[in-house]
Amino acid sequence: MGTTLPTGMESGAWESLWIYLNCCVLACIAYLAVITHRAILRPQFIFREDATEQESFYTLRSLFETKGLDVNKTMLDVTLEKNNSQNGQCPVDHGNLSARRMPFETQGNHPPVMQDAHGVWHVRDYEIAKKIMRGQKTRQAGFGSELVRQLPGNFMKNEPVLYQDGAEHKAQRRELARFFTPKTTSSNYRRLMERYAHEMLAELYAKGRVELSDLTMTMAVQVAAQVVGLTSSVLPGMAGRIDAFIQQTDLDSTIAEFRWEPKAILSHLQNQSRMGKFYLLDVKPAIMRRKRKPQDDVISHLVAQGYSDAEIMVECITYGTAGMVTTREFIVFATWHMLENEALRQQYLAAEEADRYQILEEILRLEPVVSHLFRRTTEPIEISDELTISADSLIDLHIYAINTDETIVGAQPNAVCPLRELPRGTLPPMMSFGDGRHRCPGAFLAIQETDIFLYKLLAIPNLKLVSKPVIGFKDIIKGYETRNFIVAVDEE
Ligand code: HEM
Repeated sequence: MGTTLPTGMESGAWESLWIYLNCCVLACIAYLAVITHRAILRPQFIFREDATEQESFYTLRSLFETKGLDVNKTMLDVTLEKNNSQNGQCPVDHGNLSARRMPFETQGNHPPVMQDAHGVWHVRDYEIAKKIMRGQKTRQAGFGSELVRQLPGNFMKNEPVLYQDGAEHKAQRRELARFFTPKTTSSNYRRLMERYAHEMLAELYAKGRVELSDLTMTMAVQVAAQVVGLTSSVLPGMAGRIDAFIQQTDLDSTIAEFRWEPKAILSHLQNQSRMGKFYLLDVKPAIMRRKRKPQDDVISHLVAQGYSDAEIMVECITYGTAGMVTTREFIVFATWHMLENEALRQQYLAAEEADRYQILEEILRLEPVVSHLFRRTTEPIEISDELTISADSLIDLHIYAINTDETIVGAQPNAVCPLRELPRGTLPPMMSFGDGRHRCPGAFLAIQETDIFLYKLLAIPNLKLVSKPVIGFKDIIKGYETRNFIVAVDEE
């Protein structure tokens, strides 16, 4: 696909049209990815050895939405049951722990590593996962990367960082690191985060009650936009535009049952137009401005590296999903845990910043937003004397199970216990930010931003939970999405 414009297309309008067409092709590829995923991968899950668990995984969204399942109660019961056999490892009162909200698999009854009937390896053990993720014998196989690579005449000269591997990826991460260090994050963005948090709370006070998922999306988008350089939009409302095109995966069912029917075609066109809007109103103006006057952000860096407009658009989509949607969902879950567990909330509010981060990271360990990561082996990986994963194998890392590996996290793996003592070298969020070369560069930013917002929000004495979030499943990040989480400030 074009990285140079056809002759005679220099004018801004023609260039925009040309890029818009590129966006349409990208959107088609995204649909193709989803359709292929549904047509090829999903049946594998249903027919493989651990079919019941995976079936429930994929049907979870409809279960939640149609049956109004009380997940909280289910998981709490399980936790309380386990508390009776508490082994005394941890000084925290386990009778009062905040239990996992998502009823996804735990490590418990599965082998640490197994191969299914289709040759896919499933890993649920932390040490094995660490060996795979930190080693040099795999490449990225998640987030549609394999499908895009297989496309004839792969159109991207420069892949998004999430898809890259090897020397190219290493060099790019080295360059990008400067935007994400704790020092940069604190000195460049902290004040902005404080201001955005303040604005969000002002909105809550003004309205009396708010849908927290909307509010947190605005906050997450505003913060990540600073790092990326998406700050030259010609119209307000970028958070809504990003949310709108990311919502296209909500049309999974429509896509799966796609027929050449007017309704389906119309919805496809609508999605392309949403992506086009994001490009024309947000991405393109940012690129143009940075070509004239480079700034200290990711887009300026990509422009300097000679990325085409289409390639920058793809990178912005990566940040939109990897950085913005994930953070929004995490803030919602952290708020939910604390609003339903007054002891945890008080402990959080009384803690120093470092301890507050630890509480947040423990919540993220328990509720990882991205639930599956995928890798393909480039060389055989020896797991034990008896077991070797051969080259060119697909590995599915089950993050929910890995993060609750009892041999690492100790007692009560399915509850928030802020005083966990993890083995040396194990980070508190475990694999919720990934591990190894692709580990999330925005991890510190996400935790700091969440803390700034929550510390202010939870300190409101008359804050109350009006309705628990409705939980769905977002295929693009293989994780949860929350909606309709209403909080209010009571009139006193
Ligand atoms: C709670 C919030 C977040 C979660 C749970 C999260 C999770 C993840 C995970 C699991 C990965 C690894 C993917 C893999 O190994 O295949 C990742 C990568 C990435 N994340 Fe995050 N993330 C969050 C916030 C952010 C933020 C705020 C940004 C930037 C503003 C960001 C940017 C990225 C990028 C660019 C990558 C790709 C890195 C690479 O492949 O080298 N993330 N994230």
